[in-house]
Amino acid sequence: SSQVPREQGLDNSLNLLKEGYLYIPNRCRRFQSDIFETRLMGQKAICISGEEAARVFYDTDLFQRQGATPKRVQKTLFGQNGIQSMDGEAHKHRKKLFMSLMTKQRLKVLTDITVEQWQASALEWEKKEDVILIDEARKIMCRVACKWAGVPLKESEVEQRASDLGDMIDAFGAIGPRHQRGRRARLRSEAWTRQIIREIRSGKLKPSAETAAHAMAFHLDLNGKRLDTQIAAVELLNILRPIVAIARFIAFGAVAIHQHPEMRSKVASNQGNYRQMFVQEIRRFYPFGPFTGAKVKKDFTWRQHPFNKGTLVLLDIYGTNHHPNIWERPEEFRPERFQGWEGSPFNFIPQGGGEYDMGHRCAGEWVTIDIMNSSLAFMTKYIDYEVPAQDLSINMARMPAMPKSGFVLSNVRLNTTNS
Ligand code: HEM
Repeated sequence: SSQVPREQGLDNSLNLLKEGYLYIPNRCRRFQSDIFETRLMGQKAICISGEEAARVFYDTDLFQRQGATPKRVQKTLFGQNGIQSMDGEAHKHRKKLFMSLMTKQRLKVLTDITVEQWQASALEWEKKEDVILIDEARKIMCRVACKWAGVPLKESEVEQRASDLGDMIDAFGAIGPRHQRGRRARLRSEAWTRQIIREIRSGKLKPSAETAAHAMAFHLDLNGKRLDTQIAAVELLNILRPIVAIARFIAFGAVAIHQHPEMRSKVASNQGNYRQMFVQEIRRFYPFGPFTGAKVKKDFTWRQHPFNKGTLVLLDIYGTNHHPNIWERPEEFRPERFQGWEGSPFNFIPQGGGEYDMGHRCAGEWVTIDIMNSSLAFMTKYIDYEVPAQDLSINMARMPAMPKSGFVLSNVRLNTTNS
């Protein structure tokens, strides 16, 4: 029989909730193994970590997504029957739709909108004593996402839409009220984007042809048919929601600048492409996506361990980004590690691994990097602020994590020497 370590217990879901991002890495360390077996959510699960694990996980002959995502995650974070749960040719066709939105020109439009929205918001912050960055960044990202995607958004709607999009993300790994908030947010948001899709199809709204809203409304599936209104609504949210999620990385970026003040001027000047390396290190170092899941599509063996058809497998995202075989001193925040760094599609996986077109790697990785880059340029060059005493601790059991205070800025001033 298999030599693979097994965590004892009828069900270890509570341990997962207690340890969060560290659940898989803690056991890999204890078992001295990149693979172990456990029971989660009432079923057998195999957890795997590291570059070789990612390589096998993204082999689409061996794994499928259909049936892998728990209902509670579909009803909050993902939505039902969207791209995340698709496989094979249908998935590839849908992924092409998402990737067609990510051209150089469209990314340039996106970063222009991003800078414009930061500027407008910072003018308002000057009038206040302090602001909570993660909340402000969510509203900024909500405006950016809607404008870029061709979705009309009234100023009076921003607060509600931004908090709904944020609450769907915040529900991941939650039980109780935080989960319920995520469900309500999804119901309200889907009703909103269904209406947008209907109005585009009826000609009442006319977003330009390059936008996500237009693309989702008029995309034809492999049978040559338009998407069901509900599915188009879910896919439009698969663009809007994760752009709002970037607010978390921006808050982590502010924490990093605050805790490493010597990096601030290098992020601002961007000498030697420093800002890009800083962005990569934020994505590697801070906890966001903990793991991703798939089901074994057909029996195979890896590391002498049988993977039987239908078994749930979790790939350790956080642990792979901190894996001692890949990263030197992984617990240090050190942007220079990305200087001349030769990555593979499987060893740096904050937004999933493998190829964009073939597998489930995040469609929005370039969007994330470019928006973070523009946002951190803005924060280090165009505003000055103070950081009052606050609790910046990051609770590794809370998925998704964030700095406890949300990062409070006080006394924000536009820096006129640069603008
Ligand atoms: C998939 C993370 C931003 C759109 C994913 C996956 C992860 C991820 C872990 C799943 C990978 C897998 O299961 O193999 C993140 C993080 C982000 C982010 C941490 C930071 C904010 C974005 C943005 C967009 C986006 C900005 C769109 C503009 C998507 C889509 C998928 C996806 C459409 C599904 C891809 C597929 O199933 O083929 N993301 N993402 N994400 N992401 Fe992101």
